[in-house]
Amino acid sequence: MLSVKNIAVFVSGGGTNLQALIDAQERGEIRNGRITYVLASNDKAYALQRAEKAGIEHEVVSRKAYASSEEYDAAILAALENRSIDLIVLAGFLSILGPTVIEQYRNRIINIHPSLIPLFCGDGFYGKKVHTAVLASGMKVTGATAHFVNEITDGGAIILQKAVPIEQGDNEDILQYRVMRQAEWEILPKAVSLFCEDRIRIVGNRTVILGDRNLENKE
Ligand code: GRF
Repeated sequence: MLSVKNIAVFVSGGGTNLQALIDAQERGEIRNGRITYVLASNDKAYALQRAEKAGIEHEVVSRKAYASSEEYDAAILAALENRSIDLIVLAGFLSILGPTVIEQYRNRIINIHPSLIPLFCGDGFYGKKVHTAVLASGMKVTGATAHFVNEITDGGAIILQKAVPIEQGDNEDILQYRVMRQAEWEILPKAVSLFCEDRIRIVGNRTVILGDRNLENKE
């Protein structure tokens, strides 16, 4: 029997991906995991109110309060100390995690990125900037990617992806909302549940998703 995994969600903004995780948890769709802690990189993040409403412990560890990313990393590790966190989820988290956090939580950090990696990702590609570049490219599809985090920005092994159409007349706002609603808010909870069920194997820079053991055991 797997022990239930403790999930920490890191946020910076509106928290719609956090809300998708909370809603999935309430529907029983995050198997073998529970959100036990929310960390915000600034005190303006509306995501904090979502955590409050859901009764989830939350804290601001403000990026601005630290002179360097090394000091911020140390503050993050201190905030996670004694919480027995098994998985960190970056849900609209706009600060870059440094090597000490990544090393301590190797292959236990999942990020949601609003494009089909390896397209439109890496340094400088975040939030609406991604959708501006996608629209400028003339592509007819885009989407979102849930992936593990390593030292390369948006470079970790891909877990799940979902494509969405680009429609005539789309602008960044319309496209961002479609990608969030039709892709991000669906694949992030699914990826988190797969992790908590120990159904993701990392093979080189790729992942293999194992079958649903519960279904396999069915007669
Ligand atoms: C979204 O564009 C998401 O793709 C990215 O951060 C933005 C805000 O997400 N990861 P949220 O509403 O704060 O979850």
